[in-house]
Amino acid sequence: MCGIVGYLGSKEAYPILINGLKRLEYRGYDSAGLAIHNGSEIKQYKRKGKVARMEEIAANSPHEGTLGIAHTRWATHGEPNDVNSHPHTSMSGRFHIIHNGIIENFASIKEALKSRGFTFQSDTDTEVLINLIEDIYTEGAKSLSKAVKAALNQVSGAYAIAVIDSEDPNTMVVAKMGSPLVVGISDNEYFVASDATPFLEYTKRAIYLEDGQMATLRRGENIHLYNVISDEPVEPYIHQLTLDIASIEKGGYEHFMLKEIYEQPQSIHDSLRGRLLAEEGKIIMRGVSEYKAKFMNAERIIIVGCGTSWHAGLVAEYVFEELARIPVEVEYASEFRYRNPIITEKDVVIAISQSGETADTLAAIKLAKSKGATIFGVCNIVGSSIARESHAGAFTHAGPEIGVASTKAFTAQVAVLTLMALKIGQERGNIPKTQYLKYLHALSQIPGQVERVLKCNDENLIAIAEEYASALNFLYLGRGVNFPVALEGALKLKEISYIHAEGYPAAEMKHGPIALIDENMPVVIIAQQNANYEKVVSNAQEVKARKGKIIAIINPGDTDMRHLADHCIEVEETDELFSPLLTTIPLQLLSYHIAVILGRNVDQPRNLAKSVTVE
Ligand code: F6R
Repeated sequence: MCGIVGYLGSKEAYPILINGLKRLEYRGYDSAGLAIHNGSEIKQYKRKGKVARMEEIAANSPHEGTLGIAHTRWATHGEPNDVNSHPHTSMSGRFHIIHNGIIENFASIKEALKSRGFTFQSDTDTEVLINLIEDIYTEGAKSLSKAVKAALNQVSGAYAIAVIDSEDPNTMVVAKMGSPLVVGISDNEYFVASDATPFLEYTKRAIYLEDGQMATLRRGENIHLYNVISDEPVEPYIHQLTLDIASIEKGGYEHFMLKEIYEQPQSIHDSLRGRLLAEEGKIIMRGVSEYKAKFMNAERIIIVGCGTSWHAGLVAEYVFEELARIPVEVEYASEFRYRNPIITEKDVVIAISQSGETADTLAAIKLAKSKGATIFGVCNIVGSSIARESHAGAFTHAGPEIGVASTKAFTAQVAVLTLMALKIGQERGNIPKTQYLKYLHALSQIPGQVERVLKCNDENLIAIAEEYASALNFLYLGRGVNFPVALEGALKLKEISYIHAEGYPAAEMKHGPIALIDENMPVVIIAQQNANYEKVVSNAQEVKARKGKIIAIINPGDTDMRHLADHCIEVEETDELFSPLLTTIPLQLLSYHIAVILGRNVDQPRNLAKSVTVE
């Protein structure tokens, strides 16, 4: 979590840092701060709350300078307040640092530093690190780089850091372990950030640091990249970025979340493009083909992920088992990694992650890899840690997702996983040719169908949102492949509206949650015309008998549910296996409208961050 930005060049750093922070605010928004070197000294501003609050003081104070670092925080050590905000300064005031990550052994280092006379202003692990750097520097390290390197060799944990020195307006030192860090390079200038969005308008050339690497950036000199432990120089690999500015702006929508919901016809299309060749009856997925033997012989597929990505994994479980006929286990990455799981070389582990940086998912695949499993990444961010740690993978081409609540990333994940299941199922000989061609055709229709389903964003849906925005609880029910959709619908509602919501397999309702149902309980029921339909109708009857209010997601022409439900939202029919790609859409919109009605911060809900790089 946390976003870091840095600049060293000939331009004024301030606007670059402020704009960069605003683009990275999705990573955390408990506090913001910056430090700028004006050639003779460093000015620092920081404040609890969003970047805009910090800007209120910085904009009206001196902030000239062409070297600077800035930070937007998601609190881990120490409550979100002004003092715990970054940048942090060493005791003498000389060195300044921004940090994304956690220094796990900070307490023992802090004690040692205290015994050497150091005092601390904040409760943070980061202040400990900058004082360790100062201590090493004053003990005789010949340069800032050497002091940072020696300090990093004493710490354990995760970090992406940038450090500057009041006595040197020409140098910034950066390092990475576990948290993302990218350096943008232009003529005689460097940009540093947690992802490339802060500097897209300035350069498309970027170096993604690997774990255990650090770099010294000096005005007028080439980047000096090297290994933190061995000190060996590393030849930088320069990526050519393909992202553009338009894709990270709101484009006329009130919120990023709404924009991203509306982008789904395109993002699903982009995730299928070049892979699903329905006319030719083919699926091309290079990563799957390269590891074909592993998939053919897999005794088990283990899917790991967190939050919404875990829900995409649950959808995939149904789809893979139906089409590929390989047993699938779906695991919370955070549980998997600490469970001493049984993993063999015959297992294929699919890691699902929008950001590609989620700490638990990354740790889970490292564990599985160490036990010989094949790791297949399904990530949205090219160059991300999970993508790089995987043996092979398939990117979701959802484009940048800025709203903290995941929407288009989820459907893109489901689309890519469905393609994989179809390809593997066909290659394993489990799907008759005619049925396979039908599936391909049905899947190719999904982007157009999503476009039409989005028309449900009408007065009916807004009226439903208005009627239930004051509810204290919601229940979401679905069966089969739409059970994970119920979980995802409930997660969307709770994270952006702060209304308590639970997702359940519809048939499980009578084993407990039914006790909650009364005339105040809205129950969202996903009722599609498939093998489960009659059973779902029975579950709806049980809700109705207890006076619960039913909001049903139905197919056009459905009369039974229309008769039972208090409200209906229609989505087109597709093959049952692909229906999550459609049924998810009205649930996203319902949460969105309820959150807007309640005046919530839709794009940046409280306590959350987009990229969870701490465990
Ligand atoms: C929910 C949400 C989170 C993420 C989770 C995993 O809307 O966004 O639950 O899905 O933090 O993140 P990634 O997919 O980046 O690994």
